[in-house]
Amino acid sequence: MRRLCVAIDGPAGAGKGTVARGLAARLGYLLLDTGALYRTVALAASRVGLGWGDAEGIAALATQLAEQERIVLPGVKRPETQRAGGMQVLLDGEDVSDAIRTPEISVGASRVSAIPAVRQALLAMQRQAGASGGVVLEGRDIGTVVFPDAEVKFFLTAPAEVRARRRYDELAARGVGVSFEDTLTDVVERDRADSERAVAPLRQAEDAIVIDSANRAPEEIVEEMVRVVEARAGVR
Ligand code: DC
Repeated sequence: MRRLCVAIDGPAGAGKGTVARGLAARLGYLLLDTGALYRTVALAASRVGLGWGDAEGIAALATQLAEQERIVLPGVKRPETQRAGGMQVLLDGEDVSDAIRTPEISVGASRVSAIPAVRQALLAMQRQAGASGGVVLEGRDIGTVVFPDAEVKFFLTAPAEVRARRRYDELAARGVGVSFEDTLTDVVERDRADSERAVAPLRQAEDAIVIDSANRAPEEIVEEMVRVVEARAGVR
């Protein structure tokens, strides 16, 4: 069976993480959560005191992080290290998997992801991970920029209220104190920022299969995706 490159793009809270993990596990593919890379750049920036508006400083930092291989994603190669809250990420050897999933770092990741040099610095890492196929990449611009030739592209979406409810439940379960209203405002604001930025904005690839995740169980969506991937891989 051919091992394909599968792109899953879509807005925050559409359920890409859960579905991508399920799909990779079902297919025996590697998984790359590309948002974790932008989050780690944001965390590194905040730790050295760079403001989100300091595009030059953050660009230089991102280039250094990539060139010196200071960001490591062991989960890509070892699926057993991937966990429910998201992929494992190391920054300078420290496990920052939880530290990158706070509301503050979500805002920071959105800001740093709008800086062209940051996107450029992370591009090679993403392409390397997906180069030999057998991989599910999850993000915003996988099917449009990172792997425009991906054999299978999905665009997973859901109404903003549904996505905000999921994010709120997720944060509440981890004891992060936020209100639903603030979560919804964040989701809407991030959608706008991610869609309107000049470089690699969030948009659907023309050849992407659109799936609305509202009112559907992740397992059911995974099964639909498995059928598509197997058909393309020539199994059925
Ligand atoms: O999927 P996420 O919430 O972990 O992503 C964090 C931020 O990174 C989000 O604001 C959009 C940005 N991002 C991006 O611009 N391109 C990607 N391929 C993945 C994420």
